[in-house]
Amino acid sequence: MNMKPLSNPFVIGKYVDKTYFCDREKESDVLVHHVVNGRNVTIMSERRLGKTGLIEHVFANYLHKDFETFMVDIYTCKNLREMVYLLANEVFRKLAKKPTLPERLLNVVRSLKTTISYNVTTGLPELGVGLGEIQQPEVTLDEILNYLETSEKRCIVAIDEFQKIATFEEENIEALLRTKIQHLKNTQFIFAGSEHHLIESIFSDPSRPFYNSVVFMQLLPIDKNAYVQFCQRLFEQYGKHVKETLVSRLYDNFLGITWYLQLSMNEAFTLAERGGHVDDDAFEPILNHLVDSKRFTFEDRYASLTEKQKTVLQAIATEYPKMQTLTSSDFIARYNLKTASSVQTAVKGLMEKGVLTDYHGTKHPTDLLFMLWLKKY
Ligand SMILES: Nc1ncnc2c1ncn2[C@@H]1O[C@H](COP(=O)(O)OP(=O)(O)OP(=O)(O)O)[C@@H](O)[C@H]1O
Ligand SMILES: [Mg+2]
Repeated sequence: MNMKPLSNPFVIGKYVDKTYFCDREKESDVLVHHVVNGRNVTIMSERRLGKTGLIEHVFANYLHKDFETFMVDIYTCKNLREMVYLLANEVFRKLAKKPTLPERLLNVVRSLKTTISYNVTTGLPELGVGLGEIQQPEVTLDEILNYLETSEKRCIVAIDEFQKIATFEEENIEALLRTKIQHLKNTQFIFAGSEHHLIESIFSDPSRPFYNSVVFMQLLPIDKNAYVQFCQRLFEQYGKHVKETLVSRLYDNFLGITWYLQLSMNEAFTLAERGGHVDDDAFEPILNHLVDSKRFTFEDRYASLTEKQKTVLQAIATEYPKMQTLTSSDFIARYNLKTASSVQTAVKGLMEKGVLTDYHGTKHPTDLLFMLWLKKY
C-alpha cells in the first residue's frame, strides 16, 4: 500500500509499517519459527520494550499470507464476557473485509443476534457486536473458536496483557480457557504481558492449568547500534541529520527502552529544520521537553508519597540511570536511609503505588520520566 510519508517518522503507540519499525529481525524470525511449528508462545519483557509492536510487525509482514491473525488487548477486561466481546469484535472486524465470509460466520456464531448490514459506499458487510449481546460468554467463545477452526487458513490469536485473566471475576477461568485452547487444531495463541511475576506464574506454576503449555520468548532492548542506524536512516530520508552520539546518549539514559527512545527521537526530529542537524546540544532540551510535559502529574504523584518513600526515591533518582541494590549498606549509608528494614517498608509502599516495579527480583522505577523529573527538581 502506498502511504503518504508521516510528518514525523518516529511513531509512538501504534504500528504503522516496517519503514518505521526498528530491527527485531531475529526476534521476528524466532516468533515465526515457533508459530509455523504449531507452538503457542508467551512473550515477556519489561514494560514498553515492544512486545505489542513485535506481534503487529510479525502479523503484518511475516504471517499475513498463510495465517488469519487476530489481536486483543485485555488490559481493561474484568471478566470473560468483556474478553469475548473484544475477541468477537476483532474477528468480525477482520472478516468483514472479506465479502463472502460474514454469512458463514453468522451461521456459526448463533449466540449473538447480530445482523449484517452493508456499507453503502464500500458495499462491504459490516458487523458489530455490543457488549450487552454477549449473554453467554462461554457459548459465544466456543462458537468463535469453532469458527476459527473451520477457517481455510490457520488462525493465530494474540492475547495481549494476558496476565489480566488471573484477576477475572469468574472462578477457574484459566482452567476453562486452557481446556478450550488445548483441543484446537487450526488455531494457535500468542500471549504477551509485562507483569513478569503474574505472567510467569500462569505458565510456570505446576499447579496451574497453563503450566508448560507454551514456549517463552523474552524480549530485550533493541540493539543500540541497530537503533542508531534506524534513527540516522529515518532522518536522512527526510533530508535531516542526527548525530550518532546523541542517539547513543539517549539510549543509555533510557536504558534502551523503546518507548522512551521513540518519544525522544520524535522530539529530536522536530528540532532539526529541513537539511538541519541535531547533535549533542539537543540532549538536555529533549529531556526537559519530555519531563516538563508531565510536570503536573509528577507533582501530584510526589505529593502522594510518605516522607520516607520520598527520601528513598530521591536517592534512586540521584543515582539514575545507575540501578542500585536498595538495601545494600553502601546505598543506605550514602543517603542516610538509616535501616534496611525501613527502606524495605518504603520500597514496598512504592511498589504498591506502582512507582517501582519488580523485574526478576530487581526494583526498577516504573516511569523513567518521573525519575528524571525528581533528579531535576
Ligand atoms: N521495533 C520498534 N521500532 C520502533 N518503535 C517501536 C518498536 N517496537 C515498539 N515500538 C514503539 O515503542 C513503544 C512501546 O512498544 P510496545 O507498546 O509494543 O511495547 P510493549 O512491550 O507492548 O509495552 P507494554 O508493556 O506497555 O504493553 C510504542 O510506542 C511502539 O510504537
Ligand atoms: Mg503492550
